[in-house]
Amino acid sequence: MADEYSLNGKVAIITGSGRENGIGAGIAYAFARHGASVVINYVSDSSAARANKVAENVRGLGGKAAVIQGSITSRPGAKHIIQSAMTQFNVSSIDILGQWLSSVVNNAGGPAKTHGSIMDYKPQDLLNDFELNYFGAIYMIQEAVPHMNRGGRIINIGAMSSITYVPGMPIYSAAKAALDHTTKSLAVELGKKSGITVNVVAPGLTMTDQPLNLDEDLRTTVMGLAAEKSSAANRVGTIEDVADVTLFVASEKSRWITGHVFPVGGGMY
Ligand SMILES: NC(=O)c1ccc[n+]([C@@H]2O[C@H](COP(=O)([O-])OP(=O)(O)OC[C@H]3O[C@@H](n4cnc5c(N)ncnc54)[C@H](OP(=O)(O)O)[C@@H]3O)[C@@H](O)[C@H]2O)c1
Repeated sequence: MADEYSLNGKVAIITGSGRENGIGAGIAYAFARHGASVVINYVSDSSAARANKVAENVRGLGGKAAVIQGSITSRPGAKHIIQSAMTQFNVSSIDILGQWLSSVVNNAGGPAKTHGSIMDYKPQDLLNDFELNYFGAIYMIQEAVPHMNRGGRIINIGAMSSITYVPGMPIYSAAKAALDHTTKSLAVELGKKSGITVNVVAPGLTMTDQPLNLDEDLRTTVMGLAAEKSSAANRVGTIEDVADVTLFVASEKSRWITGHVFPVGGGMY
């Protein structure tokens, strides 16, 4: 039977995908199962072994993988990731060997700092949250789009906290809200002209290092709230919950959807 979500011959860059329990790795596995070549990107030296393990898992699922270390928080960093991806997979701006840069998943992110009150944020804390969660995605898009073809997909991983209140991370949530809005603007800018769709997949609380690394009090509050306020079941999300929606958005099936935010939080209210 034909694979309706086939990503055969497509090259996908997934930033921040080097942790085997992270949302980025979950997306890489889903894409690999449907035939994509995926770029596993990480930034911290301490994540190198984990990134190589994710790549090994991707290959085990039948996909091709390239591992690239680089930071999205500067334009040269983003350029390095894009250029290395094209070199490693031997693709350029147009269709070569049936492959081209088909999708960029701006997944890297997370609260750089958590505080109970906005009053406690120092200027550098504000900047850090915006650099990682907003500017980084813009740099990646600026560097990638000139190499993308019609039918391309930009998928920004946002957060449900951009559209609802979650304690402890107001500036991170505001940076994700900025990303939601830029997604709308980019969808208009890149739609008719370039044939590229731009959407947000916005997870609710998902079991990865991110909640595990929160201070214990905040972690207990946020995890309790997420399970209590989800409508679908009494649990928090899994990386597969997020990856399945991202696969749909990456596939040809989502061709008539652009500029939208897909919340993936079990109907969290
Ligand atoms: N987990 C949740 O509950 C949740 C909820 C809503 C939204 N999200 C969003 O989902 C995405 C993935 O979250 P996650 O929970 O899977 O995160 P995670 O496990 O904490 O991983 C974050 C990833 O971002 C990478 N990263 C950090 N700074 C980077 C930089 N400057 N350049 C490139 N990569 C960088 C990290 O790389 P290293 O490993 O190399 O440090 C890591 O792989 C994020 O955008 C997050 O905001 C998560």
